[in-house]
Amino acid sequence: MGAPSLLIKAPAKINLALAVHGRRADGYHTLETVLQTVPLADTLTFFHRRKPGLLFRCSAPELENVDNLVYRAARALEEDAGTALPGVEIVLRKAIPRAAGLGGGSSDAAATLIALNRFWGLGRNRDQLARLGAALGSDVPFFFYGPTALARGRGEIVTVLPPLPFLWAVLALPAGLRLSTAAVYRALPDPLPPPPGLEPLLRAIRQGDRGQVLQWLAGGNINTLAGVVRPRYPEVHDLLTTLTGLGLPAALSGSGPAVFGLTPSRQKAFAVSRRLQEEGRQAYLCWVGERTPGNRS
Ligand code: C5P
Repeated sequence: MGAPSLLIKAPAKINLALAVHGRRADGYHTLETVLQTVPLADTLTFFHRRKPGLLFRCSAPELENVDNLVYRAARALEEDAGTALPGVEIVLRKAIPRAAGLGGGSSDAAATLIALNRFWGLGRNRDQLARLGAALGSDVPFFFYGPTALARGRGEIVTVLPPLPFLWAVLALPAGLRLSTAAVYRALPDPLPPPPGLEPLLRAIRQGDRGQVLQWLAGGNINTLAGVVRPRYPEVHDLLTTLTGLGLPAALSGSGPAVFGLTPSRQKAFAVSRRLQEEGRQAYLCWVGERTPGNRS
């Protein structure tokens, strides 16, 4: 193994809205979702190898296998290039909780495509990489266009949105609970419940109005999948109630079980994340969006 060649961060995401509109014949669902990156991130390092071939290592041994989206993304890019490429060793250090609705695996895949495109000098542009990414997972394309974007179709049609106004974020997870996204989608009722209309959130983002963003979150019913997860998993329901009770409008991220709460108050975010940690819950203090002169805190 030589000197580190390239290090890249793969951020987690939260869903500020997730509206499921219909079922497709291929088993996927049509949706509209507003995604936002958060600073909680995995780290990927790419090392030159003298020998040809791909070596993949991961800080979580159970994820160190050829099914990992990092390995599959590297293979997909190599196949797309259609030629043998120089050897590389990829080391993934996980920080994002798995099967949590935070998009860790998808973000790792996008980061791999971005990094190896440079590492191998392939010259693919962002749209080409995102198309490759879409074949690996519905959330992968978003990570080429974040930090804030609207995704439609099954998630692969991405429109960039203006950055969110700055807000503190508390991410929290019930201990030891991992959910399969496929199982959550399968449990949706038939007919599907009426989806939330995203216009108030999109308007709030376009206007950079953080009061309206918080009001959107406080209004509830912003994620169709919460209708499945919340009643089945009391720990998720409890976390959402706790965050709301402590004054943070909160919602489920993706198919969960991670939840997030947002607040303009640094003190409140610190206090809430510390309290959750003291209660033995997995909680992270983060932020979203961009500071502007009007919304510093
Ligand atoms: O695309 P990805 O592999 O991340 O999706 C995981 C699972 O989530 C799919 O197999 C499918 O069951 C479900 N899904 C869906 N509709 C979407 C995205 C995901 O039904 N738009």
